[in-house]
Amino acid sequence: MKLNAQTQAAALGIALLPLAATAQSAAAQAYTPQTTSCPSGFALYRDAGNAGNQTISSSESAYVQSRKSNVLPGAWKTYLANVQGTSAGSSLPSYVSEILNGTGSAQDLPTLGIASSGGGYRAAFFGAGTLNALDARNSSSASAGLGGLLQSATYIAGLSGGSWLLSSLVQANFPMIQELVFGPTQNTSNTQNSWGGWMADMGLSEPSDSLLTNGEYIDGLLNEFKGKQSAGWPVTFVDLWARTLARHFSNGTTMNSFYDENLPHGAGILWSDVVNTPAFASYNIPFPIVVVDMHAPNENDSNVITLDTEPITNTVFEFNPYEMGSFDPNLAAFTQTKYLGTTNTSVCVTGYDQQAFVTGSSSALFNSFNSQALSSTLGPLLQAIEGVIGNPDDLLYAAYPNPFYGVTTGGFLGSNQTVLTLVDGGEDGENLPIQPLFVKARGVDVIISIDATADINNYAAGSALIATQNRTSLFPSAYSFPPVPTSIQTFASQNLADRPTFFGCNTTSSNDTTPLIIYIANGGPPAGASSTSDGITNTATLQLSYNDTFAQSFIDQTFAIATQGRPSSGGDTKDGEWPACVACAVVDRARGRAGQERSGVCQSCFERYCWSGVELDATGPGTGGQSSGAVGAVRPGLLGAVVGGVVVGLGAMLML
Ligand SMILES: *[C@@H]1O[C@H](CO)[C@@H](O)[C@H](O)[C@H]1NC(C)=O
Ligand SMILES: *[C@@H]1O[C@H](CO)[C@@H](O)[C@H](O)[C@H]1NC(C)=O
Ligand SMILES: *[C@@H]1O[C@H](CO)[C@@H](O)[C@H](O)[C@H]1NC(C)=O
Ligand SMILES: *[C@@H]1O[C@H](CO)[C@@H](O)[C@H](O)[C@H]1NC(C)=O
Ligand SMILES: *[C@@H]1O[C@H](CO)[C@@H](O)[C@H](O)[C@H]1NC(C)=O
Ligand SMILES: *[C@@H]1O[C@H](CO)[C@@H](O)[C@H](O)[C@H]1NC(C)=O
Ligand SMILES: *[C@@H]1O[C@H](CO)[C@@H](O)[C@H](O)[C@H]1NC(C)=O
Ligand SMILES: *[C@@H]1O[C@H](CO)[C@@H](O)[C@H](O)[C@H]1NC(C)=O
Ligand SMILES: *[C@@H]1O[C@H](CO)[C@@H](O)[C@H](O)[C@H]1NC(C)=O
Ligand SMILES: *[C@@H]1O[C@H](CO)[C@@H](O)[C@H](O)[C@H]1NC(C)=O
Ligand SMILES: *[C@@H]1O[C@H](CO)[C@@H](O)[C@H](O)[C@H]1NC(C)=O
Ligand SMILES: *[C@@H]1O[C@H](CO)[C@@H](O)[C@H](O)[C@H]1NC(C)=O
Repeated sequence: MKLNAQTQAAALGIALLPLAATAQSAAAQAYTPQTTSCPSGFALYRDAGNAGNQTISSSESAYVQSRKSNVLPGAWKTYLANVQGTSAGSSLPSYVSEILNGTGSAQDLPTLGIASSGGGYRAAFFGAGTLNALDARNSSSASAGLGGLLQSATYIAGLSGGSWLLSSLVQANFPMIQELVFGPTQNTSNTQNSWGGWMADMGLSEPSDSLLTNGEYIDGLLNEFKGKQSAGWPVTFVDLWARTLARHFSNGTTMNSFYDENLPHGAGILWSDVVNTPAFASYNIPFPIVVVDMHAPNENDSNVITLDTEPITNTVFEFNPYEMGSFDPNLAAFTQTKYLGTTNTSVCVTGYDQQAFVTGSSSALFNSFNSQALSSTLGPLLQAIEGVIGNPDDLLYAAYPNPFYGVTTGGFLGSNQTVLTLVDGGEDGENLPIQPLFVKARGVDVIISIDATADINNYAAGSALIATQNRTSLFPSAYSFPPVPTSIQTFASQNLADRPTFFGCNTTSSNDTTPLIIYIANGGPPAGASSTSDGITNTATLQLSYNDTFAQSFIDQTFAIATQGRPSSGGDTKDGEWPACVACAVVDRARGRAGQERSGVCQSCFERYCWSGVELDATGPGTGGQSSGAVGAVRPGLLGAVVGGVVVGLGAMLML
């Protein structure tokens, strides 16, 4: 994009200040990375191995082990009691309760992962509403028989809009979803650094109705990364984006302090700091992972899937509180998150892994924009930055000094880049951050995949699973993925996305360690909605503000979607067996290890909820629920829209 920055800025009421004019604000200081001497024995990265010798870090391993011994036995019992309280829960086969109450012969609890997709605020709200339905602390979720799964998960991953949800949740010390989204209700002494809520009604790009206020606000944001810039670090649009996101998804901002330029507004809160929150320190949070993609000047663009921006062959990075790197065999290496920015073993950098910058990187889809972007809701931010950083080519990527410089194992694409250029985790089409959960060394049994990708009409139809199937098939030594359909038409025609579906139900001895997927997608309005117009969860990815009333309705409608299952006839709004069926899926791999046969209600659940393996066929087994009236009726229209190419024009803008 080419802009006359001064003209644009003037129109917005922004005065472009000379560099470093106010670089000493609290936020600017806290956002600037520091250098220190490296600890003895410091290594820039570790070899994460591949196939038989793939390893997770010792810190992750210690966290997971402590969580499994101290927290999960109680968490699974709470969940089990909630399932048993539902109508079908009492008829579960005894192996389900033995596995979950830890009395089975194997004494082998399931390893559960949860993944929440990208899709901007739509995905953040859909993920939030689903996590709420899985939260034992919400009594409605407990009665619905899903409450407790959140507390029982070993891993939780987020990407783009899903990373806003995940990273705000863990850095705020794992509050309940109502408090996460709307802020604390009780009048606590609000310290400068406590949690204030998402404040989604203050738009990401234009928080106020006043042009002048917005101009001054953006002007202030521009100053917040000038300290980093003056100290010589590469800064890009993603730094501005990070400072924007920090107002909403980091501690340290309330409605009253939103425009106060004297506060740090979350600057200085690091992704590696998450380990110090009380909930993490007591192993009460599933191990959090944020997914980010790579852009590389010498990438092979013939591997870009239609509609996407980055080739599926580029390295996919994960940021967990201890490490950043990839299990992809084309890198298979990790650096320490708290020393991100470091490129040699004598001078170590700290403060580069700002939580909002990691989240900003995961949602940095700006390189997929074209000229539409300027007239979009992001226009004001994009226009403002042009005058500050005069380097349009590198403007749009998150820039990290490359700790993997010179690593050539597996043909790492970034081996001769001094600065790694990272982008939105969904830009290769894998809009669900599930790949880290398929890492063999993590031993995950079952993954609740929460998908709010915009495939059809801003509803999801499986493209993210399809892309991950494609990509993991390139790296069979690192990942094992179950069969999913190869087209969104199959998802649409068999109602695999507008009702929950299990993938990977059938195993043989050669693939019984492949995780099972419980797919809960934002695939359409909930059952019982009188028509599609009742559906409100298909907002546009670039809708950057939500008022509280609408946000609450969105979360509540998501609760209905997450708890409905596959109602068997048009009039039903819920499948009473759904909570029992989820329990069957959750224990299924542990059941296999214990040498038990699937039985009772679990058998009929699997017949109803498992994908049959048949493509595009609406009449095969395992697709029950398609009779559900209202939704079935709109199917041909939606399908026609895809086939007719209507989604093409929206392009990769929808992945945020
Ligand atoms: C894993 O095995 C490969 C191939 O044998 C070897 O090059 C690599 O050093 C090993 N990595 C680890 C972490 O053991
Ligand atoms: C665990 O579940 C089994 C099977 O339902 C039951 O027989 C046993 O009493 C339960 N044990 C505990 C400690 O809840
Ligand atoms: C919250 O507490 C402060 C200090 O005690 C008080 O000034 C303020 O009015 C209270 N606000 C509300 C909404 O109760
Ligand atoms: C954020 O604030 C909450 C209280 O609102 C606190 O428990 C948590 O530790 C804080 N997190 C960080 C990273 O400061
Ligand atoms: C780029 O990818 C295509 C498709 O996978 C492949 O045929 C081609 O050889 C690749 N080119 C290079 C230079 O690796
Ligand atoms: C993804 O898989 C589909 C179906 O197998 C195939 O048509 C498509 O070419 C694949 N794309 C890539 C980039 O591998
Ligand atoms: C090591 O890294 C620091 C910080 O980036 C840099 O200032 C220094 O020049 C580097 N030293 C060498 C020997 O490359
Ligand atoms: C990096 O490597 C690629 C592929 O080998 C090459 O085309 C490119 O010129 C290299 N760039 C630099 C800066 O060395
Ligand atoms: C395991 O392999 C069998 C036979 O190829 C296949 O039918 C099944 O879908 C696979 N299951 C998983 C979870 O990959
Ligand atoms: C809240 O947002 C919804 C959806 O955009 C809109 O219909 C409604 O009028 C808004 N309410 C208020 C009070 O602004
Ligand atoms: C529990 O979830 C429901 C459904 O979204 C919500 O309306 C309610 O406010 C939640 N309760 C609490 C205490 O968070
Ligand atoms: C799983 O096995 C059942 C029963 O044999 C079969 O009907 C179904 O098609 C299989 N599913 C897949 C995905 O292969």
